[in-house]
Amino acid sequence: MKDSNCSIPEPSIKPETTQGAQANNVVPASEEAILRAVRLLREGQVIGLPTETVYGLAADGLNPAGLARIFEVKQRPLFDPLILHLADLEGALRLAEQVPVAAYRLAERFWPGPLTLVLRKREFVPDLATSGLPNVALRVPVHPVAQALLRTWGGPLAAPSANRFGRISPTDAAAVRSELGDAVPLILDGGPCAVGLESTVIDLSGDQPVLLRAGGIPVEEIESLVGPVERATPVDDRPQAPGQLKHHYAPRKPLRLVERSEDIPSHETIGWLAFGETGNHISFPGTVENLSPTRDLREAAAHFFRALRVLDENPRVAQLYAVPLPAHGLGRAINERLERAAH
Ligand code: TXA
Ligand code: MG
Repeated sequence: MKDSNCSIPEPSIKPETTQGAQANNVVPASEEAILRAVRLLREGQVIGLPTETVYGLAADGLNPAGLARIFEVKQRPLFDPLILHLADLEGALRLAEQVPVAAYRLAERFWPGPLTLVLRKREFVPDLATSGLPNVALRVPVHPVAQALLRTWGGPLAAPSANRFGRISPTDAAAVRSELGDAVPLILDGGPCAVGLESTVIDLSGDQPVLLRAGGIPVEEIESLVGPVERATPVDDRPQAPGQLKHHYAPRKPLRLVERSEDIPSHETIGWLAFGETGNHISFPGTVENLSPTRDLREAAAHFFRALRVLDENPRVAQLYAVPLPAHGLGRAINERLERAAH
C-alpha cells in the first residue's frame, strides 16, 4: 500500500499467532493451512480469514453454495450484499462493467489496503454476492495471509466480517472463534488486525462518489484525490450498506455515549472505553480500556473492537460508557461505530 502513514506489513507468509486461540479450528496460517483453506473453499465451505481491517468469513465468491453458507453462519439477512476480495487491482476491476477514472485513481493509491469500491458489476457476478443489486463491492486486502490465500485461490473470495450479524467485528482469531465457534471448519490465525476498523466503502457507480461506510482510509484522503464525496444517510431498514444501519456493531451490554468523561458514573460495574489520559480518574472504581493513552487515532482504531469486546465479556461490567473521539480522520470512523453500537 502506498499510503505512507499506514504501517502495514509487506506480503509474506510469516503470520504471527494470537495467544490463547487454542481451539482446534484455529490454526497458524502456514502454507499447509492455506492449502487446506483452498480445499474447503472449493467444497463450498467457509473459513475465517485475517485481513488488515478485521477478520473475514470467506467463501468462494462465484459459488452460490459457498455464498449461501456465509449468510447462514453469520445469520445475515440476504438483502445485505458482500464484498468480493481479489489479490490485485487487475483481478478486482475485471469484475466491474464500467470503471470510472476515479476508481483507477483510488485503486492505484489505496490498493492493496482498507478501501472498498462499489462499481457496476459484470453479468457473471452472482446475485447472492450483490443481493441482486446491479453493483459489486470490490477490495484488495494487504494482509500477507489474505494475499497468500487469494493468490493461491486465484479468484474472488466473498468475505464479510466474521461476526454474527449486528455484533462486534472480530480483530483476532480468538474473537472469530468466540463469535462463530465450530460453525467454521478452519480459522486462519494471522495475529491481531493492524487497522482494526473495516474498510472505507465508496460507491462510484453514480455521477458522484458516495461514502457508504467510513473506515480504515480517512475520507479526507479520498477527497484529496477525487474531490467531494457525498455522505449516505443512515437508514433503519434495507440499507445500501449495513454500516448504514443505525444499530450495528452492538455489544450485549448497553453502551452510553456522554460528552465528557466527568459524566461517567463512578461505579464498579461501569466499563469505560477511554481515549487519552485517564490519570484524573485514578480513583475510578470500574474497569477502563484505554484505546490510546497518547491520543493516537490509528492506535485507537486498532484497539477499538477488541476493547469493546473485552468490556462486553468482563463479568464485572454491567454498562459501558464512552466519550466520542475527535471528529476527524479515523476518529470519525470510530465515532460512527460508537454511535451505532450505542443506538
Ligand atoms: O474491511 C472490510 O471491508 C471487511 C473485511 C473482511 O474485508 N469486510 C466487511 O464486510 O466489513 P461486511 O460485509 O461486514 O461489510 C460490507 C459492506 C457493507 O456495508 C455492505 O452493505 C457494503 O459493504 N456493500 C457490499 N456490497 C455492496 C453493494 N453492491 N452496494 C453497496 N454496498 C455494498
Ligand atoms: Mg460487518
